Amino acid sequence: MSIWNWLEGGYTMPDQSTWGRRLACWWGRKLAVRRPGVSIHPTCRISPEARIAPRSGRISIGAGSTVGLGAFVQGHVTIGERSSVQAYSILVGYGTAEKPDGLIRIGNDVRMASHCMLIAGNHNFADPAVPIRTQGLTLQPIVVEDDVWIAGRVNIMAGVTIGRGSVIGAGSVVTKDIPPYSIAAGVPAKVIKKRGGA
Ligand SMILES: CC(C)(COP(=O)(O)OP(=O)(O)OC[C@H]1O[C@@H](n2cnc3c(N)ncnc32)[C@H](O)[C@@H]1OP(=O)(O)O)[C@@H](O)C(=O)NCCC(=O)NCCS
Repeated sequence: MSIWNWLEGGYTMPDQSTWGRRLACWWGRKLAVRRPGVSIHPTCRISPEARIAPRSGRISIGAGSTVGLGAFVQGHVTIGERSSVQAYSILVGYGTAEKPDGLIRIGNDVRMASHCMLIAGNHNFADPAVPIRTQGLTLQPIVVEDDVWIAGRVNIMAGVTIGRGSVIGAGSVVTKDIPPYSIAAGVPAKVIKKRGGA
């Protein structure tokens, strides 16, 4: 058993309700900000078992946000305020502050459940005579606007924007932009309803 499992008491999401959990959040944040290019508000709850690595980009996480156990936040990624990325979700952004062509931007008040995957680049594969791994990547940003709920095991493709106030159903694969206040689900994700009954 890891020391964090013992101190946090088996929670998937970091919280501040006991001294052990507060220590875990403090250490999780410390571990993350030791890397240049990472800025995390002191009120964030970061699991010490999350993996936060900016590579050549920057990572910024706003006040009151949470990153859970086993989640990866890598590359060029911005997370707003009061948002959460739950256990084992993977966010991989690309680019740099000067050339943010593969930025992942998560807004404020976003809920992202476990095992979601957002990767802001695709392998090029046009030439069948050349190994795919040598053909480079095409980078496109992923944007999740404010107040979105992304349910468990959702995959969001490079280039997609999820509009403000939307809900994405469990297991969806989102290949196109989702307009604001939509409820979308399926593979590929389609709008099944609008919030507010429209
Ligand atoms: C999307 C969701 C919120 C339901 O929204 P809803 O407005 O109540 O939708 P309904 O249950 O009325 O379903 C409407 C239609 O969409 C379909 N649907 C609902 N969720 C779906 C999903 N995740 N994937 C595919 N289709 C889905 C339903 O089968 C139904 O189809 P029908 O009209 O042909 O019968 C819910 O299904 C869901 O995915 N919850 C997420 C659970 C989760 O991951 N929780 C993590 C905790 S943070």
